[in-house]
Amino acid sequence: MRRNFVFGTAVSDYNFTGREREIKRLLTAFQTGINVILMSARRLGKTSLVKHVSRLLDSNEVIMVFLDIFSCKTEYEFYNKLATEVLKQTASRQELWLDEAREFIFRLAPKISISPDPNSEFSVSLGISPKTHTPEEVLSLAEKIAIKKGKRIVVCIDEFQQIGEMEGSKQIQARLRAVWQHQEHVSYCLFGSKQHLMSNIFLNRSMPFYQFGDLIALEKIPTEEWVEYIVSHFADGNRTILREQAEEICRFVDNYSSYVQQLSWILYTQTNEGECVTDEKVRQAETDLLNVNEILFMQMVEPLTEYQTNFIRAIVSGEHSDFGLAETRETYRLGSYSNIGRLKKALLERDIITSENHIITLTDPVFAQWFNRNMMI
Ligand SMILES: Nc1ncnc2c1ncn2[C@@H]1O[C@H](COP(=O)(O)OP(=O)(O)OP(=O)(O)O)[C@@H](O)[C@H]1O
Ligand SMILES: [Mg+2]
Repeated sequence: MRRNFVFGTAVSDYNFTGREREIKRLLTAFQTGINVILMSARRLGKTSLVKHVSRLLDSNEVIMVFLDIFSCKTEYEFYNKLATEVLKQTASRQELWLDEAREFIFRLAPKISISPDPNSEFSVSLGISPKTHTPEEVLSLAEKIAIKKGKRIVVCIDEFQQIGEMEGSKQIQARLRAVWQHQEHVSYCLFGSKQHLMSNIFLNRSMPFYQFGDLIALEKIPTEEWVEYIVSHFADGNRTILREQAEEICRFVDNYSSYVQQLSWILYTQTNEGECVTDEKVRQAETDLLNVNEILFMQMVEPLTEYQTNFIRAIVSGEHSDFGLAETRETYRLGSYSNIGRLKKALLERDIITSENHIITLTDPVFAQWFNRNMMI
């Protein structure tokens, strides 16, 4: 069944809007083999965008491979995942992917164990380990397949920041880059949230992935585009919302994609067929949005120290730089001057704050609203 508003999973077709410029840029990159790095705060639409673009490509020319490495904690867990997905998603007959895989795997190294049940996704373990394969062998697998098939391959790795969390991360990154940069038939689209980790990998001159590809910092979808989307999707459900009310939805959640959809959905379900949205209903839906997310926000603040909580209070009160000033530290009780650096670091690591050109804001605008209503003293 078609849903008027969707949040929480990647969206497509009817529930996908805007992003014309980014779509063109990604499409060209994928067709011509340019590496892409896609960065944004959480839930702005990275996965949706990449999946959307992949549907526009001619599969006779380009094969897209997707993997999410959020659960990979070590280098070789990553290699197993990479090899499995590359083999599986490039196989010409999906049900026989393991047969095809054997051909490539045997070329890599003879010692592998494949589970007896080739149909079950979960029982397949390629058993790639430091004893059976070198990193270089695994990392060059996609290029070999691309050449054999006479097609380009784009490997899309979601939650790539996970690489930055692994032990020996810098050496791992150096190994990946060393192999990947020489590949002519395979390109990479690396994306992730957790801004500070992604920045460490891609924006730091001393790190291997510095200037690896076209860096796209995904922006918010502008209000005009959201308004079109919201108004028409209400209309499709035989409900009427004014443009100003749709603008208010965007304002409340600061155009944050998943929240625009979530707030619209709450309001939609509270409006009967044939009815017009009232301003009262919009305000009620905003309160409900804070309430349904409250448990998540409480989890965010629960482990924070008094100083860290005070730092957030300062931001919510309109402070975005100058935290080191004696007056600011006193007003918000932030402790000593040297404490400020520690507070910023801790909150950046938790992804609670974002720092851009030395301006500090709360990453999640709805969390900011909730904090303002519930945590200010
Ligand atoms: N282009 C879009 N049009 C409409 N809604 C969108 C769009 N992009 C994202 N959204 C909304 O945002 C939500 C999150 O999208 P998506 O999962 O693609 O984001 P993400 O950046 O990959 O998130 P995460 O950081 O959790 O990986 C979607 O469920 C949808 O509600
Ligand atoms: Mg995602």
